[in-house]
Amino acid sequence: MINVALTVNGTKVEKSIEPRTSLADFLRGACNLTGTHLGCEHGVCGACTVNVDGRPIRSCITFAAQVEGCNIRTIEGFGSDTTMTVLRSEFSREHALQCGFCTAGMLITAHDIVTRLGACGEARVREELAGNLCRCTGYAGIVQAVVNAGSAHVVEGATPPILDAAAKPASLPASHDPSEKAAQIPKKAASANAAPGATRISRSFTVDANIDRVWQLFCDLPTVAACIPGAELKSYDEDSFEGQISVNLGPIRAKVEGAGHYSLDPDNKSGVLEGAGRDLLSRSRVQGRLEFRLAGQSPTSTQIETVITFTIQGVLAQLARGPVVDSLVSLILKQFAGDARAILAGDKSRQKGRRLGFLDLVRVLLSSFRKN
Ligand code: FES
Ligand code: FES
Repeated sequence: MINVALTVNGTKVEKSIEPRTSLADFLRGACNLTGTHLGCEHGVCGACTVNVDGRPIRSCITFAAQVEGCNIRTIEGFGSDTTMTVLRSEFSREHALQCGFCTAGMLITAHDIVTRLGACGEARVREELAGNLCRCTGYAGIVQAVVNAGSAHVVEGATPPILDAAAKPASLPASHDPSEKAAQIPKKAASANAAPGATRISRSFTVDANIDRVWQLFCDLPTVAACIPGAELKSYDEDSFEGQISVNLGPIRAKVEGAGHYSLDPDNKSGVLEGAGRDLLSRSRVQGRLEFRLAGQSPTSTQIETVITFTIQGVLAQLARGPVVDSLVSLILKQFAGDARAILAGDKSRQKGRRLGFLDLVRVLLSSFRKN
């Protein structure tokens, strides 16, 4: 046994420990500071990150004896810290945690980023956070929370900004305001195509109709909206629209209100719709882009190629994962194709639109299980 003396969260601590005791075990076992989590215990996941003499380190691969005489700050030591208070608020606002296992380490690394760099862009935040792994959130909310906190340019000792959930740093775009009913995007808004981490899904299907008739349908925005399950067009003009889309699939519930713009290219029989919105239920933010192109297969058959690109931030980000979203998009496109075929065949009753129901949930889940 050896004696090790450290300062932990401002208090001097001296313990008799085995020389091989890691700092993480020292903090959790000898000091009862269990906010420091252990994930991999190999220095990979970052869950055990603590601050030693002002720098974040991994406590699972650091011997307590190595940091003899140092100042250690664990998550418990940031209780009234101004920067950490803002970070906690931003993590909450951006839904940057689910199970919370990684959160203590994330926050300590985020505190270092904001303190060291102040305002910085998403790419830099992602690079700086690369050593902290999260198995739940998809990272979008975490990165946004750190960007927001950096934009607020919080420094130790500064007056903290208002921290209620509806408050937003002055530098945030208007769409961060949860009181907004719909996120408005400018006509030249950056597309979801360019957003890091965007999900991209390509699909094609065929309808038995001449390409000119199919093109006519695609130029008629109310009819297109009627073919998308849960979609409702509220207003539109020659290049922009406002509307909402509802999804009610068992536990997956969303009602996204938003706005966007569209452009059609008659020469190439193609078009692009882009939009952004906010889920009124979870306040998640969604940004998406739909590109389509028609190709005549024969005088009576047209192939429709689609590419859907989207990003989701907030609790709905769970949807943007692997087989579930893949199956959901397949289901929506299948229903879209079915309704488009029916309308082209003269069935006007299909123009009322419809919703996804319980059986659709079963189909999505079965399909995603099969892909696993
Ligand atoms: S537990 Fe220390 S890095 Fe994973
Ligand atoms: S919130 Fe669960 S691991 Fe990150």
